[in-house]
Amino acid sequence: MSFSPAWLALRAHADTRARAQSLESLTRDALAKRARGTLIDLGSGSGANCRYLAPRLGDARPWLLVDNDAVLLGHADASCRPLTGVAQLKTLQLDLAARLRDLPLSGAALLTASALLDLVSLPWLTALVDACHTAALPALFTLSYDGRISLSPADPDDEWLITAINTHQRGDKGFGPALGPQASEEAVRLFSAAGYEVTRARSDWQLDARDPADAALLQPLIEGWAGAAAEQYPNATERAASWCQRRLKALTLGQCQVTVGHEDVLALPAGTARRSQS
Ligand SMILES: C[S@@+](CC[C@H](N)C(=O)[O-])C[C@H]1O[C@@H](n2cnc3c(N)ncnc32)[C@H](O)[C@@H]1O
Repeated sequence: MSFSPAWLALRAHADTRARAQSLESLTRDALAKRARGTLIDLGSGSGANCRYLAPRLGDARPWLLVDNDAVLLGHADASCRPLTGVAQLKTLQLDLAARLRDLPLSGAALLTASALLDLVSLPWLTALVDACHTAALPALFTLSYDGRISLSPADPDDEWLITAINTHQRGDKGFGPALGPQASEEAVRLFSAAGYEVTRARSDWQLDARDPADAALLQPLIEGWAGAAAEQYPNATERAASWCQRRLKALTLGQCQVTVGHEDVLALPAGTARRSQS
């Protein structure tokens, strides 16, 4: 599955607003206990996760950005190398679906990914959690879609469309049948079973058509959702197209508010989490 630099740039401002800041401070505390080690960003795309996290996680660190898309890695390299918080930057072009074992996890300080977990399958996530456990590695997975979408003003076909999207989300995105909306739930379950201390928090997109940056994101989002519904239900392409037309018309009038549910999950090896103040 490929992602355009333009789409990743459009979503970046909504992602930045949505991220759960409570998990950042916990991550910073966990890293403070690990003087050395690389921060590895899986499915880095054009570098949004590194751009967001690097200046917020304390001392400058080496980063390794991993993706199978060479063009996106080129964008990531150019924008992340000069950042405060990046001591050294390497990129690695790797098909994570086929070559998870080739990740250089030993000596890493943190494994992170944004907007990746909902694309992966349960066996792949299980193998990733096993690899983290073996390396006693903390993990921060942000912005995983969780199946909740609400649209205002309401349209009679919203529920039909949301069901179609969530079914489509479970299709194969290159890693086998995708976890889609179940991604964070499964990450919490697997890391907890491995003895990790797990914290989860919502990181919903809150989009409003009256904001020009949100409107620019909403247009391809609505079109993409209608396309997914048409792909999911080939006999209902007209229904999906009509929904899309109504939504795009409302969008041009500034009449569209959308919440898209996401979750962030932080998993820390047992004994490394900050104790809450009593
Ligand atoms: C939704 S994008 C998220 C990108 C970035 N983390 C962000 O938040 O903007 C998913 C990323 O995963 C990468 N990806 C998808 N399948 C992959 C695979 N099999 N191996 C490596 N990277 C993959 C894509 O190229 C894309 O950059």
